[in-house]
This record gives sequence, C-alpha cells and structure tokens, in this order.
Amino acid sequence: MYAIAIDGPAGAGKSTIARRIASQLGWLYVDTGALYRAVGLSGLRRGVDTASREAILPLLPQIKVELCYRDGEQRVLLDGEDVSEAIRENPASMAASNVSAMQEVRDYLFDLQQQIAREHNVVMDGRDIGTVVLPQAQVKIFLTAAPEERARRRQRQLAEKGIQVDFNQLLEEVKQRDWQDSHRDAAPLRQAEDAILCDTTHLDLDQSVDQILQIVKERLS
Ligand code: DC
Repeated sequence: MYAIAIDGPAGAGKSTIARRIASQLGWLYVDTGALYRAVGLSGLRRGVDTASREAILPLLPQIKVELCYRDGEQRVLLDGEDVSEAIRENPASMAASNVSAMQEVRDYLFDLQQQIAREHNVVMDGRDIGTVVLPQAQVKIFLTAAPEERARRRQRQLAEKGIQVDFNQLLEEVKQRDWQDSHRDAAPLRQAEDAILCDTTHLDLDQSVDQILQIVKERLS
C-alpha cells in the first residue's frame, strides 16, 4: 500500500489540498483531525472539562470512534452515530485541541489510523502523520503558509458565512495555536526530516495541488 502524509499548521489548506490529491489519484482521503474532534465531542456531550485528563481518560474505554466512507466522503462515527457535522462546530475545535495534547488519546487513535493505511492507499492529513503515524509513508509533505496569509484565508472563510472578525484577532489566534501545537509534549507539530516543505503563501489552490502532484509523481515513479 502507498501513503502520502500531509502535515502542517492549521489553515495551511491541508484538508482541501489532501482531498483533491486523493481524488486525483483515486486513493482514500483520511482527515485525522476528525478523530480528535470526535473524542473532544464525546467529552463535551458528557459535560466534562475536555482539558482535564482525569475527565477524558476514563471515557476512552467507553467510547467507540470509527471512520466510514459514504459516496467517497469520509464520515466519522461516535458510538455508531454520524457526528461529521457536529465535530465542525467551534466548541468541538477547542475540545479537539485539548484532548489532542493527551498522549493516551493519541495512543487510542493510533491503531485506527494505521489500520486504514494497511488496507488502503491513503492521503492522510494531520499533525504527526509523517513523524509518528506513518513514518514509512512514501511521500511526506509539510504544508505551511505565512501566519498573515492563514489569518486572511480564515477571515475570508468566515466572511463567506456572514461572520466578520477582526484580522488582528485572527492573526493572534493563528500564532497562538501554532505555538501550542509545536510546544506540546505529545507529538508536537514538526516537519519530518524527510518531508518536503511546501509553502502555499503565494500559491492558490490549483497551484498548490499541482506542485504536490508533481512531487508525488517524482517520488512514486
Ligand atoms: O485539523 P483539525 O483542525 O481538524 O484538527 C483538530 C485538532 O486535532 C487540532 O487541535 C490538532 C489536532 N490534531 C492532532 O493533534 N493530530 C492530528 N494528526 C490531527 C489533528
């Protein structure tokens, strides 16, 4: 089986680009952030503090997180319920960030991610795919963009939903999240030594996809 690992900070365009690449190759796209979001959501639904290890860790043996595919789209199941939409809401993002800092949560989701990659050719995106989950991936991409550009993209996305947010506030959030992601003890965000750095600051979506497909072709040929 073949695997492409795409890691990088929030807002670099990972999920959109990874989905497009998977579709071009006819491979499975695996969004691993959705798994952390599902664990976070389970904590929220039980009304516990998702930043507390004492509250979250006892939940792990009681919950079941699964991935399935419907019409080619990844769906996330929490205890059999499709929570693919619920995990996108803001509280679930916060909760995901909290639980993803806990090593036990990462261990709990590790087997599931590896098993999918054993059974399918995958394009998997996350923070630790090239470094921890699939260190054997044939292609590793570290996708990034300047914080200002990521904040601008986020501002545009929100504006499309009719939500106006101050640019400086978004920029501060982006920088804070970068710092948190790269300074946590459990699987901090870092570029794998054999990953190729792709900076999309000055590239649009098509250009980013083309650049990565080119790398994939070179690596797999
Ligand atoms: O990519 P995302 O925003 O959906 O990820 C949700 C949270 O999970 C985010 O705080 C980073 C974390 N995450 C992680 O620690 N490791 C991964 N492989 C994927 C996501």
